[in-house]
Amino acid sequence: MYTTAFLDLPPLLSAGGTVRLPGSKSISNRVLLLAGLSEGTTVVHDLLASDDTRVMLEALRVLGCDIEQDGDTVRITGLAGKLSVLQADLFLGNAGTAMRPLTAALALLSATQGGVFTLSGVPRMHERPIGDLVDALRPLGCHIECTGKEGYPPLRLSGGQLKLSAPIKVRGDVSSQFLTALLLALPLVSQNQALTIEVVGELISKPYIEITLNLLARFGIQIVREGWERFTIPQGSRYQSPGEIHIEADASSASYFIAAGAIAAQKVPVRIEGVGASSIQGDIRFVDAAKAMGAQITSGPNWLEIRRGQWPLTAVDMDCNHIPDAAMTLAVMALYAQGTTRLRNIASWRVKETDRIAAMACELRKLGATVVEAQDLIEITPPAPGQWTHASIHTYDDHRMAMCFSLAAFNPLAPTAAPDKPWEHAISVRIEDPRCVGKTFPDYFESLFQVAETRPELIPVITVDGPTASGKGTLASALATRLGYQFLDSGSLYRITGLLAIQRGISLDDAQGLETLARQLGVSIALRFDREQIWVDQRDVSEAVRHEEIGQAASRVSVFPGVRQALVDLQKAFRALPGLVADGRDMGTVIFPDAPMKVFLTASVKERAERRYNQLISKGISANLEEICADLEARDLRDRTRAVSPLVPAHDAHKIDNSAWTIEQSVETVLKLWVEGWPHVIARH
Ligand code: DC
Repeated sequence: MYTTAFLDLPPLLSAGGTVRLPGSKSISNRVLLLAGLSEGTTVVHDLLASDDTRVMLEALRVLGCDIEQDGDTVRITGLAGKLSVLQADLFLGNAGTAMRPLTAALALLSATQGGVFTLSGVPRMHERPIGDLVDALRPLGCHIECTGKEGYPPLRLSGGQLKLSAPIKVRGDVSSQFLTALLLALPLVSQNQALTIEVVGELISKPYIEITLNLLARFGIQIVREGWERFTIPQGSRYQSPGEIHIEADASSASYFIAAGAIAAQKVPVRIEGVGASSIQGDIRFVDAAKAMGAQITSGPNWLEIRRGQWPLTAVDMDCNHIPDAAMTLAVMALYAQGTTRLRNIASWRVKETDRIAAMACELRKLGATVVEAQDLIEITPPAPGQWTHASIHTYDDHRMAMCFSLAAFNPLAPTAAPDKPWEHAISVRIEDPRCVGKTFPDYFESLFQVAETRPELIPVITVDGPTASGKGTLASALATRLGYQFLDSGSLYRITGLLAIQRGISLDDAQGLETLARQLGVSIALRFDREQIWVDQRDVSEAVRHEEIGQAASRVSVFPGVRQALVDLQKAFRALPGLVADGRDMGTVIFPDAPMKVFLTASVKERAERRYNQLISKGISANLEEICADLEARDLRDRTRAVSPLVPAHDAHKIDNSAWTIEQSVETVLKLWVEGWPHVIARH
């Protein structure tokens, strides 16, 4: 998951390949609650790991359910309809799928068995209405207090006297989650009579009710439905654990990859695994909407395959009441359509994680689209060819905003004024607060980068060159972390060459032998890097390559042109989505001369020697300051005066002397340069 402040997406040119999607949020949280209310133990497989499921699991744990988690499998032993904890304060984040059904279940349980419960969430949760549910529960005799604003969380549930004789009425035209909450909870009090719920007003988002009914049936409760107006829970209904249950992949999450396929899968299709034609999720009908816009889709029980069909996409005028969440993806697909797309009957967008109609309109306009919004619809006309504008997309703590707008990164594929070099007018898209995807799809961007492709030149690189012990390694690694970029420590490749040469008895003067060795790196000698560790043929060499002796060997092997040439392709291969920070001596001059930002970091020899000295001492290695000074000077001289790729600043590098700075100051200074330069630094291509 990307936890950076923002994530810059370079222009993307195609999509293809396979993705496995995380479990459905709607199914996950319903199953968790049902398992929590059931008698016996339920083993839930493929559970979605997300913010919303975490708060639900935590709430169930607080309420006394026994929960054991092992990866995406969770064993829950339910309460069997009996409260074991009579007082709890539950914090439910921004999870509507936890707040609504827990309110209903706990209101009924506390009215019959006593107990006091408070339910609260993040500030946005306290702006999301729950009045219709409270209004349905109070006439049943539940004591519910809205402790902030009437009709909104936080709520305090404190007992009551249940009277179930009157028909139970709930409004269905603001959110279907209120009806879902009642359907999930009312079987708790159906021992002595059947219970009938009457829906007031036109029920929206019916497919979500289908999911609820389907899952209730899996837990032994058969609801009798008359149209979409009356739902009856038979007398004596009891939650029975199905033993094991698999969560299908999230159909709403699939919408982003269906869109990516429709926009950008020209050669290889995008294949989605984990959800298919027989899904119980309403959002699977997004498939039809995407087809109407031009996507070519084939499917099986558990998979979908998408290719680009009609291009540009076809603008549509569509009632989206049945796919409220996935319809947001259509709004972004509209950027690639000819004409104006009109999405109707989406008033529920206004009461979701954010006011999604307003948010969508505002951010689409930033990209250059013309947008008309009304209470329950949105109309989108894409930017004129070549008229897209760089945009920093605000995401409103709304996972779907972040995921939808990532699709704007395919903008070079939209009709442009320069059809043969579409990337010339490409814009870069900044997604603010990318971690908000954690609500339903923590690894969304990783999955996107798995199927999306672009030209290497379009992937931004920040080069950080400089002499030994200038702090460039620490700076480069910190920049990569802050930007969510890949990281290349090119010195480690020379160090590995030096280490292996010594281990294999190859002389450090044997140009040919060293070149042959360097050519094997990443080919017959397997290399693996992460931010902290380096493995060579499965052996962890992170410690070994850091020794002073190996640094000296690296400096010697790096003098040979053949060795340097042998390592070029290996270094270039690190240029991968979404971007790269490369640390070395010739990153800005030789390996990535087109990097949009270059830094040349220096510090005085004295300062560098002291840093190295302190580093060694802190590791418990004895050291001598004068010797280090002499070593550094010798190494600097060799690196600076060698015939190929001498250590010199690129002409367009920012030269920074950090002798008097802490590492934090260096990081902040360079980040500021990067942020201030955006998007021009990338637009240089
Ligand atoms: O950055 P470092 O200390 O790990 O680098 C070890 C040696 O490798 C250094 O003395 C010079 C050489 N090197 C190089 O020539 N070119 C690079 N891009 C990186 C390192």
